[in-house]
Order: sequence, then structure tokens, then C-alpha cells
Amino acid sequence: MQLIDGKAVANQLKLEIAAEVELLVKNGGKRPHLAAILVGHDGGSETYVAAKVKACEVCGFTSTLIRLDIDGSEHDLLEQVDRLNKDEDVDGFIVQLPLPKHISEQKVIEAIDFSKDVDGFHPVNVGRMSIGLPCFVSATPSGILDLLKYYQIETQGKKCVVLGRSNIVGKPMAALMMQKAYPGNATVTVCHSRSTDIKEECKKADIIIAALGQPNFVTADMVKEGAVVIDVGTTRLPSTRTKSGFKLTGDVLFEEVAPKCSYITPVPGGVGPMTIVSLMKNTLLAGKKAIYNN
Ligand code: GUN
Repeated sequence: MQLIDGKAVANQLKLEIAAEVELLVKNGGKRPHLAAILVGHDGGSETYVAAKVKACEVCGFTSTLIRLDIDGSEHDLLEQVDRLNKDEDVDGFIVQLPLPKHISEQKVIEAIDFSKDVDGFHPVNVGRMSIGLPCFVSATPSGILDLLKYYQIETQGKKCVVLGRSNIVGKPMAALMMQKAYPGNATVTVCHSRSTDIKEECKKADIIIAALGQPNFVTADMVKEGAVVIDVGTTRLPSTRTKSGFKLTGDVLFEEVAPKCSYITPVPGGVGPMTIVSLMKNTLLAGKKAIYNN
């Protein structure tokens, strides 16, 4: 069994991005600038946004964090989005999700200029991704592809089961694993909360990508000997053993599944760090106007 070290790969990729940024700036280019809007003080979101700001520093990007009150209106948020759309210094920006219930996430996502949508959530980017055109690919699936590439894991002709059908992970992941490219060319099955035979589907899989958000859902009896298991789960369960009072828990029961795998990602330290690097990669592409040149 080989542990997929997302943290190490992410650190290496961040160094490569930083080197490219320094070269860019040395040659008279502009330092890439990522902005993030954070509404309220949700613990998980605070942690993720802090990690994104830190990664910007490591990569040599300018970063701006805009905080809005949890009770702020949808109109206030849309105004900030519009301001960032028009701000010529900002190459890309994100609105950290989830948003409070009184704000429509879809409306906010669609208000973002797709050429600055480094999360890859805007329907233009999602649509272009699904038909294989240059676009900002959403960060988690993109990070998983980079891990498969880094470890040279064969995907062509393999049976890949994606657990979960979210717009951010499950759906794009399935589309990317079936694309005519490497990593891809897999035979993809998507299972979700209404699937009736998840265990049987998983047992046939060469590659399982678990993105359900259900802690320890994938157990050893669901996994074929030699399978590749990618765990996207990051549920914060209360813990008395950690300083933060939380333990990040994946969708895979690691202790019993790992011995059966050829490759497996841990939680934390697997997919999570790669997600942030993918956002950095998209920001660099935005800074270089490599995808959309407006
Ligand atoms: N919330 C959880 N993951 C993400 C992400 O990738 N981007 C944003 N904006 N919010 C998130």
C-alpha cells in the first residue's frame, strides 16, 4: 500500500508556482492577485480561507480578504462581487461557501465574472469543462487529477466509482474521469444518496473517489484488493484529543481500508492540501490571462 502524500505534492507545486511568479514579476509582469469574500464566521470556512490566504503568501500572490457580516443582505454581497468583477487589479476571486440561508449561492456564483471565477463554479466554466474546453476547473477534482498524475496511477479503462454528486466535487469529478485524456478514459459510475447498490458498485471499482461527506462510510468489505481510494471527506467531528476540539474525518474508514489498497489518500494530508494548490494554479492562470484574455 502506498500512501498518497497530498501535503508533500502540494508543497512542491506551491514552490513551482512561487518560482514562476517571481520570474513573471522579474520580467515586468503583474503579481497575481486573489481576493476572497467570507460571510460570517463559520469555523470550517474561517480555517479554509486562512489556509488560502497563507498559500497566496507562499506562492507570492497578493491576497485580499473581504469580510461581510452574517446578517448582511444578498444585495450587499452582490455589490461586493460586482466591485471585484470591475477591479482591474484583482485577477480572480472566490466567495467562500456555504453562504447563510438567506442568500442564494447560485445567484452569487452566476454574478461572478466567469473570467475571474477561479473556483470554476460559474456555469460557463462548468459547461466548458464538461465539453473539454479551456476553463477554470473546480479545485478539488483538479487536485485529485494532479495526485493521480503525480503518482502515475493508470486510469484508462479502469472502473471508477464516484461517491457523491455535488456540483463542486462529484459531478465534475465524474466528467473529468471520463474525459478523453490522462487522467481519464475511465468507465465511471456515480453513486449517491438514492443509489441502492453502493456496496456492490464499490466492490467492482478499481478507483473509488469518496465525496459524500459521510464519515467512515467506505469500509473494507466495500473495497476490492488493490483498489485506489481517494478520500474527499472532511467532516469536522468533535474530539477531546485535539487542541482545536475537532478531528477532521474522511469518508473512508482508513485503518481497515488502507491495507487492501494499492494507493490511498489520508485525511488530513491527502486531497485537502491539493485543493488549495489547485486554486493557486487557477489564480496563476488568471493572472497570466492564460484562459480568458480579457
Ligand atoms: N467551500 C468548500 N469548498 C469550497 C471551495 O472550493 N470554494 C469555495 N468558494 N467555497 C468552498
